[in-house]
Amino acid sequence: MIHDPLEGDEGKITLVRARGSLVWDDQGREYLDCTSQAWSNNLGANDPRVVKAAIAQMQEITHARPNFNTLPLLELTAKLRQIAPGDLNRIGYCLHGSLAVEMAIKLAFKNKPGRHNLIVLQDAYHGRSITTMAASWPHPDNPFLPIQPRFVRVPHPDPYRPRLGMDVEAESKLCLYLLEETIAKGVDGGVAAIMLEPIMGNGGHIELPLSFLKGVRDICDRHDIVLIWDEIQSCFGRTGKMFAADLYGIVPDIMTFGKGVGGGFPLAGIFASDRLQGFESGEDALTFGQFPVAMAAAVATVDAIISDGLCDKAREHGAYATQRLAEMSERRKLIGHVRGPGLFVSVELVKDRQTKEPARKAASEVYRRGAAKGVLFGESRYAGLGNLIKVKPPLDCTHEQMSHALDILDEVLGSIEADGIA
Ligand SMILES: Cc1ncc(COP(=O)(O)O)c(C=O)c1O
Repeated sequence: MIHDPLEGDEGKITLVRARGSLVWDDQGREYLDCTSQAWSNNLGANDPRVVKAAIAQMQEITHARPNFNTLPLLELTAKLRQIAPGDLNRIGYCLHGSLAVEMAIKLAFKNKPGRHNLIVLQDAYHGRSITTMAASWPHPDNPFLPIQPRFVRVPHPDPYRPRLGMDVEAESKLCLYLLEETIAKGVDGGVAAIMLEPIMGNGGHIELPLSFLKGVRDICDRHDIVLIWDEIQSCFGRTGKMFAADLYGIVPDIMTFGKGVGGGFPLAGIFASDRLQGFESGEDALTFGQFPVAMAAAVATVDAIISDGLCDKAREHGAYATQRLAEMSERRKLIGHVRGPGLFVSVELVKDRQTKEPARKAASEVYRRGAAKGVLFGESRYAGLGNLIKVKPPLDCTHEQMSHALDILDEVLGSIEADGIA
């Protein structure tokens, strides 16, 4: 069996119920969910408006193959066009972020016939399908290598760990220089697309400097390369704007979305520029790719994100959280760095602020002790780091819940420091 939930999952919590920012397990224990279930519940879990829309849709039609339109498909597409950045008015759907990234890659290559390369950033995370794993950081002991495509990875600036102690802007310039040099001298067969997460999520929560994001846009324009932004983690309000593209004032040529859009139902896809040629029939059709129930849920979710002012709430909660974490860092030496933007919040735990050596054991203890005290903090075990504590509850959490989560984090960090764990 693969992933058999009845074998070897010791310590895993079995969830039975969720409302807003709270989840409950099969023992009746309540938790404040600062993971938003893989940062997907931007609107709190089981929002009654979303549940009602999904049930209403289930009573009409639950499945239609992509050769047909459905009412929620038309309604959602019209709605997404209204909020799409720039000219990203063409929308494609699927059920998983990894497939949305694959769709973006396919569309880019279709639009640049004869080009053979996709450039991605080191420390990127774009999913777990065969192709998107290859576009992510090198996977340790990767058994899938023989059947994976190869992508070109280039360095990116890292404001917390800049190369050779450079300042952020100098490192940004260096990385842009190396990117352009790679395009000129590092690949055979031309570059079709450059793909990046505007805020790198699973690969260490790295806020890329604006100068770097602007510079990559400029390089793509000058070399006629498709720019793909993977906004699966940053979309639908998490950063304090509907999209990171709005936050930074940069419009990519293709932008992926996922996670927060479905209000807990599986949905993902891409926005593509009007200037790009679309797919022909058969080039990108998935049996369940336009799941009407998820689309109806998404219509209700996007309406709620707008009417409840959740972008503003993300900014307010995020500002409060990062300020409290900064204060906490004066007392809790384990905190090496506090990151945003919006409610895309995390702290990096380090053994020593000079060496910045990751404090992985301490992070594991935070997850464990936090859960024991009823708060689930987000983990990041990828890319060999494993020392990030993510504080990303739903955007509509209350101020009291946010404050409580931070109180518990403070308490738990205090107890871990007292026990000498790093
Ligand atoms: C930036 C980014 N891209 C792609 C994915 C993959 O999405 P999914 O897990 O829905 O396939 C993720 C998931 O964490 C992500 O954060």
